[in-house]
Amino acid sequence: MNGPRDIPPAAHAQPPSALVLPADLLQALRAFAPEPVDAAVVLGSGLGGFADTVSIEAVVDASELPGYPVSTIEGHRGRLLLGRAGERRLLLFQGRAHGYEGYSVAETALPARIAAALGARALLLTNAAGGLDPSFEAGDLMLVTDVLVLTAAQRMGLDLQRMGSGLQRGDTGSQDATGLASPLPRPLFDEAQLAAARAAARESTVRLREGVYGYCSGPTYETRAEIAYYRLAGAQAVGMSTAPEVLAAVRLGLPSLAISCITNISRTVRQVVSHEEVTTVAAQASERLERLLHALIRRV
Ligand code: HPA
Repeated sequence: MNGPRDIPPAAHAQPPSALVLPADLLQALRAFAPEPVDAAVVLGSGLGGFADTVSIEAVVDASELPGYPVSTIEGHRGRLLLGRAGERRLLLFQGRAHGYEGYSVAETALPARIAAALGARALLLTNAAGGLDPSFEAGDLMLVTDVLVLTAAQRMGLDLQRMGSGLQRGDTGSQDATGLASPLPRPLFDEAQLAAARAAARESTVRLREGVYGYCSGPTYETRAEIAYYRLAGAQAVGMSTAPEVLAAVRLGLPSLAISCITNISRTVRQVVSHEEVTTVAAQASERLERLLHALIRRV
């Protein structure tokens, strides 16, 4: 990505222990993908159609991978696909598991951990999100420039830390056996990658908004007070995924980019957001998203 290739392939050698894949899962993945991939793409709610634009060579159901979390949410198919787009070998995640389904942070971060283990040079994340910026419209695509995790932040770090260190609930978590509680090694998104995304948007003539992605735990959509709070805190969109993958990717030295599909405008007046609305708008935006992803993948 006029970026990922230029960025040193950082710390793949020694990821924090909570992010190392269990041996049986790694073995199953190596059988599925014996050759390294160039990039991995996570397809969020209602955005799985990108797989139809790629030449698919192998498919595995998440339920066939040992310990892989299976999403129970409609619009998330729970498959991993190996494919090719031009010269690039791609690993696609069709659907993802969320924290609100009861999965741990390390489990929801599996796409990043798997992408790194299979040699990807870039992780492209997509998601459906509510728009907070008053200038946004439903169907807009937004380049995520940073991630805002409010009250869940310490909790998320601690969950990851516990997994690697054997800490129990109630422990203070003052030890840092995994390295996950140490400061982030670099910004979540490198400027060169963000620039590559902007260039890809220009090339594919897709209007790309930009903003901070506010992570909320879900599964309920936000209350009006929470929407006001996220706005005040500086988020332009809000959603229930992506933060675990981005945080794991930065720990793994795997360059990532995230694109949100704004499926609804989150308002501080009375409104009801439905999952059906989210997946319908995502489907309408998917042609633009597909063009943008292909332009990005050519830059990997
Ligand atoms: N809030 C949180 N997550 C979402 C939304 C929303 O409004 N829309 C799609 N995913």
